[in-house]
Amino acid sequence: MSLKKLFIKTYGCQMNVYDSERMAEAMGGEGYDTVSSPEEADMILLNTCHIREKAAEKVYSELGRYKGLKAANPDLKIGVAGCVAQAEGAEIMRRQPMVDLVVGPQSYHRLPDLVSRTHNGAKALDTDFPEEDKFEHLNARPKAKRGPTAFLTVQEGCDKFCAFCVVPYTRGAEVSRPAERIMTEARDLVERGVRELTLLGQNVNAYHGHEGGLAGLIRQLATIDGLERIRFTTSHPNDMDDALIAAYGECEKLMPYLHLPVQAGSDKILKRMNRSHTRDQYFALIERLRAARPDLHLSGDFIVGFPEETEEDFRDTLDLIETVKYGSAFSFKYSERPGTPAAERPQVPEDEKDDRLYRLQALLKTQQQELQDAMVGREVSVLFEKAGRLPGQMVGKSEYLHAVHVTADGIAPGDLARVRIDASGPNSLSGVLEPR
Ligand code: 5AD
Ligand code: SF4
Repeated sequence: MSLKKLFIKTYGCQMNVYDSERMAEAMGGEGYDTVSSPEEADMILLNTCHIREKAAEKVYSELGRYKGLKAANPDLKIGVAGCVAQAEGAEIMRRQPMVDLVVGPQSYHRLPDLVSRTHNGAKALDTDFPEEDKFEHLNARPKAKRGPTAFLTVQEGCDKFCAFCVVPYTRGAEVSRPAERIMTEARDLVERGVRELTLLGQNVNAYHGHEGGLAGLIRQLATIDGLERIRFTTSHPNDMDDALIAAYGECEKLMPYLHLPVQAGSDKILKRMNRSHTRDQYFALIERLRAARPDLHLSGDFIVGFPEETEEDFRDTLDLIETVKYGSAFSFKYSERPGTPAAERPQVPEDEKDDRLYRLQALLKTQQQELQDAMVGREVSVLFEKAGRLPGQMVGKSEYLHAVHVTADGIAPGDLARVRIDASGPNSLSGVLEPR
């Protein structure tokens, strides 16, 4: 049987990256090999993101680009997966009739079957939230060698219903994968060369597939020989329990970096966002985390121009950032999402949003650079991932997730070494290996 060719384009978050890998593996069992350009493909799959309007619109402009390919090759199959598929369903096929199949994030295990139903111009659609665990029904991951870092989804969905967010609608209710299955997948990844795992979940710290919660899972994962580093993302402040805070002080393999979005710094806006905590509660939590792990680097997400956000509310966000000091952060203009409560409220004018985003990002950038510059002279641990651009140079990540460049002989991807930082550039650090 000649191999068919599959091109997957992934948008959005790390969970989509993981899902795309799993779909590629599942389709591998159906005789599909992945390729890196749509022109070569027999099947194109877009794994989409619906979090902001721009992300969703990208899907339609990308589909527009495939018109010529479909005209030249009527057997080419085009599929839309991910959160736009879940949110818009059959509407996608109405807007772009060349789309053959639409599959929501909880139905990926049915992908091979859906593809087989698209012969002779038939369309296939599945946006169910089935009872069965899709990961158990997806083909096992093949035994190929892998790079030193990998994502592993442990939890999906969200019950928090922040007033701006589509995730509870597109990914559904919170579901945790059983710890034993995660352990099996993790051991397998480590056998294939993975040394650092990032556990993924929309609300990862609400994980309850282990009797000890996420902290229990992390401690169990830490017993795997050869697994050197564990990270997790994304967390909600209200699910940061005592055991997880303690793990930062006690579990050596848990890296001192935490993505803990707060979204806004004004109590009024936090309340209207339905975040269920105040700014002081967030500060108190960070104090406890830093007591457990004083060198913890924090990362956050911020939304500017949420409905009814005034200049004063916005300044509260700037003030919160000044107080916390973030090692990295993601920031966005509020984007109206159909079906979410905030979309119905009085909106902040676009030019105000632009202005606030500009000021917010300037502050975050300065802060980030200061924290990065403060690493000069310090010793960090680096997990090397790949060759750098200069001859003999290797690039890896510090425990704090800084990119670190080192030029030295004999370093290979997957090596973990102590590095003394001697310079800080715009986006990365560089340093020299410490003698062993
Ligand atoms: N508009 C802007 N940003 C949003 N996010 C989620 N929904 C929206 C929206 N409607 C941001 C939040 C979240 C991150 C993944 O995306 O900051 O933490
Ligand atoms: Fe969205 Fe995160 Fe809020 Fe859940 S906790 S609704 S995923 S922003």
